[in-house]
Amino acid sequence: MCGIVGYVGGGQALPVLLDGMRKLEYRGYDSAGIAILLNGKMGTVRRAGRIQNLEEELEGRSFEGNLGIGHTRWATHGAPTDENAHPHQDCTERLALVHNGIIENHDVLRSRLEAEGHAFKSATDTEVAAHLIESILERRNCSLKDAVLEAVSILKGAFALVCIHAAEPDVIVAARSQAPIIVGAGDGVGLVGSDIPALLQHTRDVIPLRDRQVARVRPGSVEVFGFDGKQVVPEQVHIDWDLEAAEKGGYEDFMLKEIHEQPYAVRDTMRGRFDEKGRVVLDEVKWDTDTIRAINKIVVVACGTSFNAGMAAKHAIEHWTRIPVELDLASEFRYRDPVLDEHGLVIGITQSGETADTLAAIRFAGEMGAKVVAVTNVVGSSITRDADAVLFTHAGPEIGVAATKTFLAQLVALNILALYLAQERDSMPEDKRLETIEAMARLPELIEKVLDVEGAVAKAAKKYADASDFLFIGRGVGTAVAMEGALKLKEISYIHAEGYAAGELKHGAIALLQEGVPVVAVMTGQPLYEKMLANVEEVRARGASTILVAPHGDERARELADDIFEVPQVKPLLTPVLDTIPLQLLAYFVAKERGLSPDKPRNLAKSVTVE
Ligand code: G6P
Repeated sequence: MCGIVGYVGGGQALPVLLDGMRKLEYRGYDSAGIAILLNGKMGTVRRAGRIQNLEEELEGRSFEGNLGIGHTRWATHGAPTDENAHPHQDCTERLALVHNGIIENHDVLRSRLEAEGHAFKSATDTEVAAHLIESILERRNCSLKDAVLEAVSILKGAFALVCIHAAEPDVIVAARSQAPIIVGAGDGVGLVGSDIPALLQHTRDVIPLRDRQVARVRPGSVEVFGFDGKQVVPEQVHIDWDLEAAEKGGYEDFMLKEIHEQPYAVRDTMRGRFDEKGRVVLDEVKWDTDTIRAINKIVVVACGTSFNAGMAAKHAIEHWTRIPVELDLASEFRYRDPVLDEHGLVIGITQSGETADTLAAIRFAGEMGAKVVAVTNVVGSSITRDADAVLFTHAGPEIGVAATKTFLAQLVALNILALYLAQERDSMPEDKRLETIEAMARLPELIEKVLDVEGAVAKAAKKYADASDFLFIGRGVGTAVAMEGALKLKEISYIHAEGYAAGELKHGAIALLQEGVPVVAVMTGQPLYEKMLANVEEVRARGASTILVAPHGDERARELADDIFEVPQVKPLLTPVLDTIPLQLLAYFVAKERGLSPDKPRNLAKSVTVE
């Protein structure tokens, strides 16, 4: 998620922009840039890499001006290069614009604007907005605010846009469609930021724009308009958080913040991937239908949480595409002499795109002639260079070491890939595909509902925080959820935890059960539900405590549970997207009860670049 800062006032813009950008560094970024109005001319400097690169570039150059915008970019469209860094400009170079989010109809708009004679300099979706506003200004000769209002009625997607124009040297215009943007005005200054830390040093009274609002910010004043152009009364809030709390959006830890960001992570990952006719559009995968039809085997390689995402996805891929799927730990794959040729498809899953074992595994697969598709959250990461195709999850940067929102985004991305393969191979009836896509579209809203279990989970965590062992059981896709629940718990609470296929319980782990051992059961949907109930009975008979993740309102589950986290019902293959959330929260609250820092678990690294 990119960082945005804007300043207009009596002072120098540059130090305020750089300071604000630094305050947003924690969000992660891969390039940075600024635009400042200098004696009626827009000066921009953009650099790939850290803010320091930008500062080195600025050294010794005079960038004095009272109006400016700055940006730290987390690449989504176009690699993290100088050219793709923001701000972007129009043809006249009098307008500068920064953007956070995804403009879904950028392709169509780019072709239209190019036909009108606009010359593009970058591969970003953002530059489209700059030229679009330019073309509106040319045609209507209107104010920047009115041009932005018209532009947002044409742009599709989720975005926060902030722009400035040489013709209006005391104005910043900001627009919000889903992606957050905050504006504020202090004594003689006007400010804009994508997040509160960027503004905090200058004002504690801020206006978080609501969805579909545009703000015109001037020194000391803010006007807010709906996308319909009608002025509205801005809703100001006073922030009394310190900087650290502000970075975490008021949450105690990044992990909790990221758990709460999951509706957005999932929505953004699905954005633009289904067309109006319910077809899956994967521009990233450029194989022709014959190639896709010739695939006779899929191998999924990954590590850690990404491996668990692959374990869940195996079920959907096999069910929808009828292609057999093997699942391998990336660290094992190379050393077991796998059977693979040019009809094999290898899916490498890695949120960071840098995990050494996964990189080695996909390179090895490539050498064997297989096609490789990478599923990653980081544009420009190493895996994107080695794979034949890349499917990005759009979860935004994840700071907590324990993966949460990237896991849900991976589940969704892998489902999209599976649906795409099924569509191209005609292996799934169309009505079933449409029904599944509709069910997926409802997931963000259902995730919001699941997050309501937080209170119940926090209460249960108090009860079980002193346990020395936990068992997590599930069946089918629920086994992957159980594995992920156990992994989260051991990663951040340091309690021994095992994820188990419930049917295997009687072949080993049942020996561990005794009075008080907490057993978390993921009550996967039919047809496995009855079998799970029987497993829970077995567990109870040995005196263990039962913690159930079960469909909302299920009386039988309630009767068998010492604690229950109820989740809405969805199609069985989609259940991991919802069922994992209470387990992430359980790990989080148990860690807190034990006085541990969930964001930085001992001995673990966010990205493991050694074998
Ligand atoms: C590390 C992290 C895990 C992560 C795993 C794989 O072990 O601590 O949270 O799941 O790496 O990371 P990747 O970036 O490849 O998904």
